[in-house]
Amino acid sequence: MDFLWICLILLAVVLPEGSLADLEKQRMGSGLEIYKKLFEVKRKDQMNALKNLIELNDINQQYKIIDIMLKGLFKVLEDSRAVLIAADVLPDGPFPQDEKLKDAYSHVVENTAFFGDVVLRFPKIVHHYFDRNSNWNNLIRWGIGFCNLTGVFEQGPHSQLLGLMAQELGISEKSPNYRNPFKADHSEFFPSADTFQKALREEEKRRRKEEKRKEIRKGPRISRSQSEL
Ligand SMILES: *[C@@H]1O[C@H](CO)[C@@H](O)[C@H](O)[C@H]1NC(C)=O
Repeated sequence: MDFLWICLILLAVVLPEGSLADLEKQRMGSGLEIYKKLFEVKRKDQMNALKNLIELNDINQQYKIIDIMLKGLFKVLEDSRAVLIAADVLPDGPFPQDEKLKDAYSHVVENTAFFGDVVLRFPKIVHHYFDRNSNWNNLIRWGIGFCNLTGVFEQGPHSQLLGLMAQELGISEKSPNYRNPFKADHSEFFPSADTFQKALREEEKRRRKEEKRKEIRKGPRISRSQSEL
């Protein structure tokens, strides 16, 4: 897996693409319920992208990739915020109907979540870029606040994410027992029982199971090309 390829995978999960339409066609439940299902799908892509970045195992390249990725991520977040504010879309109001607003909504929720993964998994690298950028700080404060009110993060494997990322970023006060589950210097005191790490593992397990199911359905040719990703 080389530098450029991982860059492309990461950019693919933070930059706009029109995936919302597929799920919408199924027309199940309310707008928010549909979106929550889409969000789970998107989270799997994000976990996969993150895994590739972790497995790269090259700090220097990880710095470069995260630098490029963060610029894209915050640009999308900034543009999406502008769209939502201009249209008075409230996170706890009715789910937007307009395509452009739905896209902006999903970009905010997904990029905020993904930024949370990246800052928890690569705290040093992210702090290096994030701590001197007050615009990014404002954007993510807004993003976390928005996401917190949507209800998308209320249950399931992402319920810890907003709180943990806000503490890691210094946006909310660190509780005395806050530990970044991924910071190496704490890992010996806080073994695998940590909720976030557990959630991440569960997500991966679910994803593997799902892929296995897909392989069985689609046969060996597709499974081979999937494993190359
Ligand atoms: C989310 O909202 C709740 C209720 O208002 C608040 O207590 C909590 O601190 C918020 N979490 C974050 C990460 O902002």
